[in-house]
Amino acid sequence: MLQMSKAPALPATLLEIVNLTKSFEGVKAVDDVSLHLREGIITTLVGPNGAGKTTLFNLITGHLRPTAGDIRWQGDSVVGTAPWKIAQLGVARTFQDLRLFSHMTVFENVLTVMENSAWFWQSEAGSVTERRRRVHEILDATGLVHKAEVRANDLAYAERKFLSLARIMATKAKMWLLDEPASGLDPGSYERFVTLLRNEVRRGITICIIEHNLEIVVSISDRISFLDQGRLLADGEPDEILSNPELSSIYFGERNP
Ligand SMILES: Nc1ncnc2c1ncn2[C@@H]1O[C@H](COP(=O)(O)OP(=O)(O)OP(=O)(O)O)[C@@H](O)[C@H]1O
Ligand SMILES: [Mg+2]
Repeated sequence: MLQMSKAPALPATLLEIVNLTKSFEGVKAVDDVSLHLREGIITTLVGPNGAGKTTLFNLITGHLRPTAGDIRWQGDSVVGTAPWKIAQLGVARTFQDLRLFSHMTVFENVLTVMENSAWFWQSEAGSVTERRRRVHEILDATGLVHKAEVRANDLAYAERKFLSLARIMATKAKMWLLDEPASGLDPGSYERFVTLLRNEVRRGITICIIEHNLEIVVSISDRISFLDQGRLLADGEPDEILSNPELSSIYFGERNP
């Protein structure tokens, strides 16, 4: 791995990935990756298609079991822990394919996250009035208030992406894992998107985001981790990673035209 060590004082580690490997029939989708996801910042995972980014998320959330290595949430191993338990510990995620409740309204999609039976439910969901007030606040922040009664199915694609973010905002999770939340957004929505995530970080959320769009990567990242063919090639400050010619040639090279 390239050495990218310059920053003097890094925030504390919330989630630690230790020598993590996941093989699928001999192919290492994640290959001996060690990484610290640090508190109160946005870490961006970048890398060409098939680099292992989504697999890494699936390992963290318990949707996949590692072939080797460890994942520690606030110091304790969570390998073998069920996805719903990891969610309740405070790790929420969005999926590349969104997985909204397509026949429910926008309002219901967010409200259901706060129900006692929901995966993400954590003790302070509050009264019904309080929950509805919170849903309204979230829809306001995501620009979806005027779509509250529209079914998720009937939304434009960019609105569905914001609904996916709205749902994660309704959780009490400390850490959000966002799998390409900005892909398909029109450039006019970028600012709302970046501002939204920045506001959440300001209120104490830690974010790890998979992102391909360079404009967004530049404006959003506090740290960047670069994966290629399952391996962590670099991890450091955005300036260092983005100005590294070796990494750009991998990212923009013939394997990722
Ligand atoms: N369930 C699976 N079974 C077999 N192979 C898999 C499985 N999931 C992922 N892979 C393989 O693991 C590698 C990493 O895939 P992954 O989806 O993690 O990449 P990615 O970095 O998220 O790519 P993209 O940018 O295209 O979303 C790929 O070669 C993929 O084909
Ligand atoms: Mg992916």
